[in-house]
Amino acid sequence: MSVGSMASSSATGWKCAACGHRVSVEQPFSWRCPNSSDGDRHHVLLLEQPIAPLRSTGDLNPYVAFRKYLAWDAFAASLGLNDEQREAIIRRTDDAVARIAGTGFRTTPFARNDALSKELGFTSGGGVWIKDETNNVAGSHKARHLFGELLHLVVAQEAGVAPWKRDADRPQLAISSCGNAAFAAATLAKAVNWPILVFVPENAASELTNLLLSVDATIVRCPRLASDLPGDPCVHRFREAVAKGAIPFGVQGTENAWCLDGGRTIGWEIAEAQEHVSGPPLDRIFIQVGGGAFAACASAGLFAGGLRPRLHSVQTESCAPLARAWNAASASGGTRNAGSRWNECMWPWENPTDSLADGILDDETYDWVQVCNAMSESDGSPVVASEQHVVSAYAMAHSVTTINVSPTGTAGLAGLLAMRDQIANDERIVVVFSGVRRSFMPLPR
Ligand SMILES: Cc1ncc(COP(=O)(O)O)c(C=O)c1O
Ligand SMILES: [Zn+2]
Repeated sequence: MSVGSMASSSATGWKCAACGHRVSVEQPFSWRCPNSSDGDRHHVLLLEQPIAPLRSTGDLNPYVAFRKYLAWDAFAASLGLNDEQREAIIRRTDDAVARIAGTGFRTTPFARNDALSKELGFTSGGGVWIKDETNNVAGSHKARHLFGELLHLVVAQEAGVAPWKRDADRPQLAISSCGNAAFAAATLAKAVNWPILVFVPENAASELTNLLLSVDATIVRCPRLASDLPGDPCVHRFREAVAKGAIPFGVQGTENAWCLDGGRTIGWEIAEAQEHVSGPPLDRIFIQVGGGAFAACASAGLFAGGLRPRLHSVQTESCAPLARAWNAASASGGTRNAGSRWNECMWPWENPTDSLADGILDDETYDWVQVCNAMSESDGSPVVASEQHVVSAYAMAHSVTTINVSPTGTAGLAGLLAMRDQIANDERIVVVFSGVRRSFMPLPR
């Protein structure tokens, strides 16, 4: 039997990291733990899924290549769709994305960067491997998370399990972000002509809002209201829209757990690429952390592929709630499975200051539990990079490599710079250049 015709995924289901509640993978629209409420958002559904061994079909589209490991595939199978039908939905939706984005989902480049390895003093046996997401759909890794959500919505509607039956009756999608996630969400929404509300900060730059308007998003500016609880006002307005019926279409596991499904493709791709590399395994991976879904998924994908490099989550000194949570968890019962200690560990960073890496200034690391688990299980740690390291990493990426990457996209490299003197010269290190430098972003001086 060819891998492509194999039935059913190995995904088993969801379990809340905070309260332990289980939800079947077959349940449509299982965005949040049923115990999550307006007053208590400290719940997140995580996939419980044994994956061994990880095998790609070799298809260039990662959702096709790794389809049987997607929770989406198990969900779609439960709706009665056979393998051919499931693959066809992925391909058709991907074609629609390609018509808007100029590219569909294709395995992104992953290779040792010799110049950067040399610049950082690594020996020929070690070095720095770059996963380059700058040419992914909508210019960052973000669309990976969202495509899984889109597939969920598409198949639910087609199978007749959605409350709406016709395109014209679809509720609006909603996301709170003004960066890459918003542009990725609006791009995917446009691909299937699905209206989307994007909640952005009051003072969001016109370059960003113009980008969103270019794909027909509806922009909602969100000043902080006197009546607001602590936390991001865009998140408050987004939640209000969702409470009124909009579909959460973002990249925070606490608001839509299905972002944690497709996001793993990045880790699966790296694991698959490593199969063809000789020599010792990867030692460390540095992932820049905003809301944390990226680090959670990249590490889950790698672990599924049998790799366990030390995960270093990278935030900047401007806003570092994850390192604070790590320390609090460590002092209150350990850094693994700290979800039931949410209130003691994770709360909004009181006063984020500006940073060149402005895409990772989320005042809360929503997906902190998974990231702390992955750091614990890989003997990793959080890194708080200084602004000087952020600036240097951006400059180094542009002087040493030919990749047109943004400052947020090089923030993982800033973490490597911060830790370089604790790393041996023959270690193998991964960084992800996670977002493209757009024309309005300054080049390094
Ligand atoms: C380019 C880039 N890299 C990394 C991140 C961080 O991802 P996450 O918010 O999932 O931690 C973001 C967005 O927040 C981003 O835009
Ligand atoms: Zn829960």
